[in-house]
Amino acid sequence: MTDPTPNPNIPDPSGQSGLPGGSFSSGGASPGDSAAGRSSGDTVVGRVVVERGLATSDEVDKCRELLKRLPPGSRLSDILIQKEVITRRQFARVQRELESTRPQKAIPGFKLMQKLGEGAMAEVFLAKQLSLDRLVAIKILPHKFSSDQKFIERFYKEGKAVARLNDQNIVGALDVGQAGERHYFVMEYVDGETVHDRILRKRRITEKESIEIVIQVAKALKHAHQMGFIHRDIKPKNIMINKAEVVKLADLGLARALSDRETAHAEAGKAFGTPYYISPEQARGTLTIGPSADIYGLGATFYHMITGRVPFEGKTATEVMQKQIREALVPPDHLVPEISSGVALIIEMMMAKDPRDRYQSAVQLLEDLESAHDGHDPIHARPSDSQVSSLAKSSFDSSETPAAVRRYESPPSAIPWKFILLGALLLGSLLFNVFFFMRR
Ligand SMILES: Nc1ncnc2c1ncn2[C@@H]1O[C@H](COP(=O)(O)OP(=O)(O)O)[C@@H](O)[C@H]1O
Ligand SMILES: [Mg+2]
Repeated sequence: MTDPTPNPNIPDPSGQSGLPGGSFSSGGASPGDSAAGRSSGDTVVGRVVVERGLATSDEVDKCRELLKRLPPGSRLSDILIQKEVITRRQFARVQRELESTRPQKAIPGFKLMQKLGEGAMAEVFLAKQLSLDRLVAIKILPHKFSSDQKFIERFYKEGKAVARLNDQNIVGALDVGQAGERHYFVMEYVDGETVHDRILRKRRITEKESIEIVIQVAKALKHAHQMGFIHRDIKPKNIMINKAEVVKLADLGLARALSDRETAHAEAGKAFGTPYYISPEQARGTLTIGPSADIYGLGATFYHMITGRVPFEGKTATEVMQKQIREALVPPDHLVPEISSGVALIIEMMMAKDPRDRYQSAVQLLEDLESAHDGHDPIHARPSDSQVSSLAKSSFDSSETPAAVRRYESPPSAIPWKFILLGALLLGSLLFNVFFFMRR
């Protein structure tokens, strides 16, 4: 968790660990089902084992023949393992993957095709909406939420409300519903990658590309905020980019169903989680969160994209959140000197600890981003007086000069005093030497 650079332990965000070949048709049967040796579970296990190249169809057929001679209740999987066609581990993996596609049967009107990914709260599947013959993404909540009536109420309320949003930079909400015990949310499918994937792939995203992505998210926020929505969970994994480089903000409204701290803690221990992008007021557990919390989250995401590092690191979610509240931000151009001072100032303003010091709206933010994109200075982002004096002071305290200080001029009165003192010292040492020389 301390190193935000590509980490082999990060769960595969592309969801490529799903079974190959797209469509599954497990029929919802548990792979371990048994019924006279010819259960649908056995059929599925046999087929998937062959599809995955773990066994030949000949080997599976032979085990099926053996199964017929065994008493009812025997399972194909046991024979496959006994005959060393597959290992216990391989079977466990197949079982887990099949389990993850089981809700398919329970969602009428949709055919689940493959798992796209999973977050702290739910799993997301690629599916075909049969009535319209189109691809959609379906987020399916785990069983544990079914019993939490309050959560479910908020989930539906937010789902309905989000459906009113209409913006090309926001993932469209299509439906909410319940199938069996599970609740789901149907949304526009984004064929592309998340900003999280892109950071993993490129390690650092160029300034120009980062600005272009952030501008599109700011446009999404402008619309959402004007419609009375606050996202509350802006992070690289919730920003998707399709094949035409159109940026789509995902999960609007969904974060509302859980408290911010709950969500942040649910992701504790994951290398890229909400604690890295959560605003200080959310980390504190403040109840009234304004649009500027989203501006902070986007600022932290911008910081990560452009520097390749998260703004604050820590061993636990709590430690990271404490740093969001208290620790001063290392200016992004201190880490990557090529970053323009205008963009560094924009990020610092987006990530001001006090919401009142941030951009007051996505509209203001867009003005500065567009200005930076055109190579001009920002209009709104200016170093505050306290920033200037505290940064100038720290430049005298430390041998290292933070990049932010380089952008600001030291207070004029500080320079003559420094020179006078230095001059006096030099003069003193000169006189001392002359005196010594004369005496000899
Ligand atoms: N509409 C969508 N289209 C395509 N992929 C999606 C969509 N929504 C989510 N995903 C994928 O599913 C993953 C899990 O999403 P989610 O449950 O919201 O968790 P998180 O946002 O924490 O990653 C995302 O990281 C993304 O890769
Ligand atoms: Mg998400």
